[in-house]
Amino acid sequence: MDDHGRTREESPWLSTTDGPRYPPLDGDRTVDVAVIGAGIAGLATAVHLAEGEQTVAVIERDRVGGAVTGHTTAKVTSQHGLTYHRLLGTVGEARARQYATANQRALEEVADRSGGFDAEFERASAYVYADGADDREQVREEARAAKRLGLPATFVGGEAIDLPYETAGAVRFTEQGQFHPRKYVLGLAGRVKAGGGEVFEGTRATDMRVGQPCEVGTENGTVSADHVVCATHFPVFDRGGYFARMKTKRSYVLGVRVAGDSPSGMYYNTGDPYRSIRTHEVDGEALVLIGGENHETGRGGSTTERYERLEAFVRTHFDVEEVAYRWSTQDYATFDGIPYIGRLGPVGESVYVATGFGGWGMTGGVAAGRIVSGLILRGEHPQREVFSPTRIDGESAKTLVTHNAAVGAQFTADWARALVASEEATLRPGEGTVVKTDDGPVGVSRDESGEVSAVSAVCPHMNCVLRWNDGEGSWDCPCHGSRFTRDGKVLDGPAIEDLPRREAREK
Ligand code: FES
Repeated sequence: MDDHGRTREESPWLSTTDGPRYPPLDGDRTVDVAVIGAGIAGLATAVHLAEGEQTVAVIERDRVGGAVTGHTTAKVTSQHGLTYHRLLGTVGEARARQYATANQRALEEVADRSGGFDAEFERASAYVYADGADDREQVREEARAAKRLGLPATFVGGEAIDLPYETAGAVRFTEQGQFHPRKYVLGLAGRVKAGGGEVFEGTRATDMRVGQPCEVGTENGTVSADHVVCATHFPVFDRGGYFARMKTKRSYVLGVRVAGDSPSGMYYNTGDPYRSIRTHEVDGEALVLIGGENHETGRGGSTTERYERLEAFVRTHFDVEEVAYRWSTQDYATFDGIPYIGRLGPVGESVYVATGFGGWGMTGGVAAGRIVSGLILRGEHPQREVFSPTRIDGESAKTLVTHNAAVGAQFTADWARALVASEEATLRPGEGTVVKTDDGPVGVSRDESGEVSAVSAVCPHMNCVLRWNDGEGSWDCPCHGSRFTRDGKVLDGPAIEDLPRREAREK
């Protein structure tokens, strides 16, 4: 809770670590590799490169680990929901094994490095449990598939699961991990510095020229580099059409203090709505982290109600003393469930991308660090193929077509609604709506102190009409997931431009 006894609207990872530690870029630099993004993928790459005696500059718009890495539930596991049975069927055994090996090795890398960073890493088992008997066979199949691929997986009955409600058994991965993700990435940033690299916070990449060398422009100078790694969650300069090749989802987390024992282990269920559960000690007290209520960005109604449903779930099953934290996050997922990691492709042979982790970035990002640094240092990596950003398969191509057709329909419907919207709005604190003006749709919102803001409600990425997100006080795009603060600053891409301010029209 904060000093006024209210739930903190941030993650414990950001709440228990301090703010920026590194200065902004202060002029031009020439290095071997420029890394854009100081989350887990960018820093995991940078640290391998620094250890490989490359000169590295890491550029971060915000602060180290302040974006998605600072909003995760921080499970470090090769268990990614029900994945391996599906992969055996879609990409075959050799590539499914590459996926399994890359993520298991990422877990072991985090375990090895964490001791040096005081990143609060601890071993725990990870479970995907069946909600009911109908799902039990899926879970058994997953255990068999994961074991066949060399992972430490077994099927266990409901009696082995430390949750205060009944389940129908689970696939258990032993010797997995959980940690404090921001302490981990701050540790990585320190290693990059110690290895002769530089880290710049508060430095936004504004453009990129691909060539020999490449040039990354910022407001404070240009970084020239033989290689550029785009590790910005959504690739900041979308040269590969990633906006059409991924879908975005938002999900919600509560950090709760409960009476009695907290569950040991990390949990995820097979059904809908999904629930993610783990325990972490914060300031000497156990905090149960409950995640869930995911939905496509900009769609699915009130996000305040999603927090309320999550709280109702936790109060039904635990003796809650206080809801100490609540926060949300955004993930990008590919249509085949495998991240895009590697060379961008023909338009940029010396540009690398790491994106589409689908909520499993704590191992996916570390795996990306190993693969991308391997490609830069040695021109090769044994698990590169399955993650190739230029891959295409029949099923994903079909999904791409249907997904983008749905986006087109959304675009049309939202514009039709905006054109007949009211010209004025009456708003209570915390509310926002789109009104019709001569300048096009305008998003008007009122904050908790009563102040009214107005911005263009047209997404600068591809002109979809934005929607108000009541739980976060943001404008969210239902087409490809861009998000903006109430006064128009970009929070999440693919948009890179802020929203223009408009005159407030509110009764
Ligand atoms: Fe593509 Fe908004 S994110 S139109």
